Amino acid sequence: MYWMGIDVGTGGTRALLVDEKGAVKAGFTAPHEDMRMERPLWAEQRPENWWDAAKAAIQGVLKQAKATGKQVKGIGLSGQMHGLVMLDENNAVIRPALIWCDQRSQPQVDHINSVVGKANVLAFIANPVLTGFTLPKLLWVRDNEPKHYARLRKMLLPKDYVRFLLTGEYASDVSDASGTALFDVVLRRWSNKMTSRLGIDDAILPKVYESSEITGEVTAQAAELTGLEAGTPVVGGGGDQAASAVGNGIVDPGIVSCTLGTSGVVFAHMDRANYDPQGRVHTFCHAVKGAWHVMGVTQGAGLSLQWFRNQLAPGTDYDTLTAEAAKAPVGAQGLFWLPYLMGERTPYLDATARGGWIGVTAKHTRADLLRALLEGVSYSQKDCLDVIESLGVEAGSVRVSGGGARSPFWRRLLADILDKKVVTLETQEGSAYGAALLATVGTGAFATVPEVCHAVIKEVDAVTPQPHESQLYTRGHEVYRQLYPTLKPVYRLIASIS
Ligand code: XUL
Repeated sequence: MYWMGIDVGTGGTRALLVDEKGAVKAGFTAPHEDMRMERPLWAEQRPENWWDAAKAAIQGVLKQAKATGKQVKGIGLSGQMHGLVMLDENNAVIRPALIWCDQRSQPQVDHINSVVGKANVLAFIANPVLTGFTLPKLLWVRDNEPKHYARLRKMLLPKDYVRFLLTGEYASDVSDASGTALFDVVLRRWSNKMTSRLGIDDAILPKVYESSEITGEVTAQAAELTGLEAGTPVVGGGGDQAASAVGNGIVDPGIVSCTLGTSGVVFAHMDRANYDPQGRVHTFCHAVKGAWHVMGVTQGAGLSLQWFRNQLAPGTDYDTLTAEAAKAPVGAQGLFWLPYLMGERTPYLDATARGGWIGVTAKHTRADLLRALLEGVSYSQKDCLDVIESLGVEAGSVRVSGGGARSPFWRRLLADILDKKVVTLETQEGSAYGAALLATVGTGAFATVPEVCHAVIKEVDAVTPQPHESQLYTRGHEVYRQLYPTLKPVYRLIASIS
C-alpha cells in the first residue's frame, strides 16, 4: 500500500511513493522548461508544462516502484507558492503564470497599500503585500492586460492547477492560500475585506481546505493519462515550504528547518498566528490543523549556485563546484556575495535589490568566488533566523533539506554561520515527502500530522558549529549586514535606468 506526494517545484515536478511506515519506495522527477525572463526580475512558466511534468513524474514513479495505480491509497500535492494561474470559462490557461520570484508588481503593491492601507493589510492578512505574492500579480494583469483579465474565471496556485487536472476540482489548501495576500491567515479563510476593497470577484477563488483534508478524487480521464486509479483521494497538501516542513517534522515548537532549494527558507512552527509588525518574515497557516508558521525567505539561494554554473561553469556538476569552494579559506579572503538575484525578501523586502560580489581583488580565485557565494547565501539565511528568533521563537537545532543540503560542505558552512546544530534526516525528500505524509493522514492511516511525523521522521546526522569558525563568521556577518543598506540608494539608481 502506497501514498503519493507530488511536488510542483520550479525546476521540475517530483512524484514520490511512500509505504505505511513512511519509507520512500521510489521517486521520479520530470524537469520543467526554464523560467522565461523577458525582462530582469520577471519570471514566468507555462502551467501546461507543469501538467506534462506531473504526468511524466507520476508514470515514472509508478514504473520505478513496479506499482499500479490501485496500490496508491491517497495523493498529496505540494508546489511552488504564489504563482498566478489564470483560467478562462473553458478552463484554458489564459497566459503563462507569473511565478513566485517575479518582481514586476511594485506599482500594484503601492496601489494596494494606498487603497486598503498598510495597517489594514497587516490586520486582514497578517502580512504585508509583497511583489512576489499572487494578488499584486493579478492586479498587474488587470492593469496591463485588460483583455486577459476580462476572460478570467478562476485563479489557481501552481499545484492547484495540477489538482484541477487530476480531480476536476477548483481547490487549494490553507498554507498555499496564505501566500496569495488574499487570505485571512488568522481565520483561515479568504479575506473578503481584501477582495471587496480591491474590486476582485470572490468567484475567481478556489475552495480552501485544511492540508490533510480530502479535496476530490482522481477522475477517469486523469486516471487514463497518468496510470493512477480513478477515485483515488487527493488531499489539500501544502505550499512547498509548509509541505517540506511536514517532511522535516517541523510540527512542534523548538526545531526550525532550513530548506535550500531555488529559494532558501528558514521555517518555524507556531501555535498562534504571531506576526512581525515589520513584515520581514511571513506568517502563514501551517499544514498542521490549527497551527501557523513563520518563515524567512532568501530569494536566490540555490539559484545563486545555479546561476554561477549556468553562466560561468556550464556543464559542471554541483558536487564539483562545492568541492572547489571548499579549497578556499573561511571568509574567502574578504570576499562577499549578495544573493539578491531576484530582489530580496527577508529582511529587506526590496524588489530592486541586486546581487553580486563585493571585495574582489586580483588575488581572488574561482574557488573564492564560489565559497563567498555559498557563504553569502548562508549569511542571508542567518538574517532570516535572526528575525525569527527576535519574535521569541526558539530555535534549538536546524533540520536541513533541499538540493543545497545534499552538500556536506554547505551543511558545515551553515552550522558555523547559523551557529546552530545542523541536523540531517533519514529522508531528505522535503516537500514531496511532506505531501505524501499529508495524504496518509487524509486517508486515515494516521490520526494527525504530528502523529505521522513523530512516527516516521528520524534524525541521522548532525554537524555542530566550530567555535573558531563561528566567531570568524559572526564578524563576517556584521560586514555582510552593512552591504545592503550601503548599496540601497545605488539599487534605486540602477532600477531607474533599467
Ligand atoms: C515561499 C516561496 C518559495 C517558492 C518556491 O514563499 O516563495 O518557497 O514557493 O520554492
